[in-house]
This record gives sequence, structure tokens and C-alpha cells, in this order.
Amino acid sequence: MSAVQTSTLLSVHDLRVHFPTARARETVKAVDGVSFDVCEGETFGIIGESGSGKSTLGRVMVMLTQPTGGTLRLDGQDPARLSGAALRALRRDFQVVFQDPNAALDPRMRIGDSVREPLDIQGTLPRAERRERVLQALDHAGLGPEFAERYPHEISGGQKQRVNIARVLTLQPRMIVCDEVVAALDVSIQADILNLFADLQQRFGLTYVFITHDLGVVSHISDRIAVMYLGRFMELADAATLERGALHPYTQALLSAEPSPMPGQGRANRIVLQGEVPSPIAPPSGCRFRTRCRYAQARCAEQEPAWRELAQGHWVACHFAAREGMQVPANTGCPAAEATA
Ligand SMILES: Nc1ncnc2c1ncn2[C@@H]1O[C@H](COP(=O)(O)OP(=O)(O)OP(=O)(O)O)[C@@H](O)[C@H]1O
Ligand code: SF4
Ligand SMILES: [Mg+2]
Repeated sequence: MSAVQTSTLLSVHDLRVHFPTARARETVKAVDGVSFDVCEGETFGIIGESGSGKSTLGRVMVMLTQPTGGTLRLDGQDPARLSGAALRALRRDFQVVFQDPNAALDPRMRIGDSVREPLDIQGTLPRAERRERVLQALDHAGLGPEFAERYPHEISGGQKQRVNIARVLTLQPRMIVCDEVVAALDVSIQADILNLFADLQQRFGLTYVFITHDLGVVSHISDRIAVMYLGRFMELADAATLERGALHPYTQALLSAEPSPMPGQGRANRIVLQGEVPSPIAPPSGCRFRTRCRYAQARCAEQEPAWRELAQGHWVACHFAAREGMQVPANTGCPAAEATA
């Protein structure tokens, strides 16, 4: 998507979300020390396997989950220090659309009433103006005024997702977290919804955080992409750089698993990740990717890799990543976790 990058709209530093478990002293480290900024007007993609902490991080950005550590700044403000009208204004500005198109729709409510609900909760606009805002939002989401009278069971999955987008648009937000927003839709509908997001961004200067496990989705629409693994970022770069020259072994494995552009042909040199993602209750020592990394060395178990900017705007957390490629010391046995498909 096009982006006019201006000021920082969202900033997180060493952000952590640790959930308590039934066992005392154990926590699920869903997000475990993540730092980044999102610029106004850009699309910031976050990819990673299931359970890597993407949704938890997204929920923090829209104040649905409280961080347990680190700092969060939304438009320069710490939401934990706000209350009353200032907090309500911030909540209006930072919105989310989820994967399940049914999640925010009450089957007994007409579409128009569902779309108006966030405005009713805000309670700041007169009724006639709210109705006008609903019809406008439906129109922006590509739905005619007749949809206001329908019920969820009378419309398709793609139309329901448009309704969810309209609901959010009524509040005229500045940023929308899009959490797997096309994952539940037919492939034929996905492109329509992604195009709608692109149009809305052009029109209203929206900022997006696009969360997905599908690199194919995120690579087309994102200006920058962060790769998340077990609660931390492994790599962050602009989308083109990441696709052309990923430097982290985890990103390289994810990219190599993408379907080939040529039908019927697999990617050459596919890197198959061995084993499961370890538990976020007890992530591996040192580099948390080491149990699945084909380059892992003794140092990787002992020392956590620093989050380094290897080229301008290209951040990597790996001891041996370099601009020229991996620079692994010679003659140090490393577990082979690679297979060629
Ligand atoms: N409220 C909660 N209480 C305890 N653990 C949680 C809670 N929410 C998430 N988790 C755990 O935190 C980890 C990260 O979950 P999260 O949903 O953020 O991952 P994700 O990357 O969005 O995964 P997916 O791709 O499957 O949506 C998982 O281990 C999950 O089980
Ligand atoms: S630090 Fe070690 S284990 Fe981690 S990605 Fe780099 S080589 Fe692999
Ligand atoms: Mg998720």
C-alpha cells in the first residue's frame, strides 16, 4: 500500500505481556520484549507462526490488553496515565478488526444498528448525525444503504467483514489493527477486502498494523514487515528488502515455504523447519529460535542476540547475521535442521 510516512503514531519499547498460569511462578510470555515504532500513514505487517504473540501484541496496541512491562505510547501518550475524555478519544483513534466476521455482529441486530453501536457507546453525536455517519461508513465500505436494514444471516462472509470495517470507520480512527482480517474468507474475496483497505488508506490517510501468519497477504500490502517468533521480533525491514534479502534464518525459512509463483512447482531450496515452536512458558535460553535453527552454535544457547540495525531500517536478532549473509564461525558443529523439498 502507498504510504506517506510522517510522524510516529505508535511507539513501543521493550514491551512485555506475561499471562499468569495455574502454577505459581510460571507465566506465559506471550510478548517478551518488543520495540518498534509505527509511522502515521504506513502499513506495518507482523508475521509469525501460530502462538508467536501477534494477536496479544495487537490487543495491547488498541488497549484491550494491558502490558505487564515496557512502554507503550499512542500518539505520544501513555494510555495508562489517561482517563475520562482523553482516554475515550485515544480509544476512538486506535481500532481493531478481527478475523471472524461474525465476532462483532449480533445475529438479532440489524446491520445498521450494529454499525451504529460504537457511536451509541461513545454517546457524543446526536441521533440523526449518528444515522448519517452509519450510512456514510457503509458506503465507504462498499455497501449500499439497503444493507442497514438487513440481518447478518442475510449477507455473505465478505459483506460481513465490510460491515465490521464500517463499524470501525464510524469512529473515524487514525489507526486500525487488522488481525488476520482475510483469513476466514474465500480466496476469491480476500483480494477485494485487501483492496478496500488500500482504498480507505488512500482516502483517509489511515495507519494499519496488519497481523497475519500468511506472508503472501502481508508482503503485498505492507510498507514494513516484522517477523515475530515466541514473543520477540526476529527481523524488521521494509517489505521489498525482506523479500529480496532476509537476513534472519527464521525469516529465510518462512520465505522459502511460500508457494512458488510458477503453478505446479515448489520453491527451490525449501528450508523445512524441524520440530514444534517451544512453549512460551519456558522459552529456550539465549536465542529462542535456536532449537529450530540450522546455524545454531553453543553461543546461541548462552547469549541472547542483540537487536541490531544491520543496514538502515533493517533490524535483525541473530549473532551471525551480516549484510553479506550468515557469518557462522568455521569448525563448530551445528545441528542440521535443513531439508530440501
Ligand atoms: N489471555 C491469555 N491467557 C493466557 N495465555 C494467553 C492468553 N492469550 C494468549 N495466550 C497465550 O499467549 C501466546 C500467544 O498467543 P497469541 O494469540 O497472541 O498468538 P498469535 O501469534 O496471535 O497466534 P495465532 O496465529 O494462532 O492467532 C499463546 O501461547 C497463547 O496460548
Ligand atoms: S542467534 Fe544462533 S540460533 Fe539464533 S538465529 Fe542466529 S544462528 Fe540461529
Ligand atoms: Mg492471533
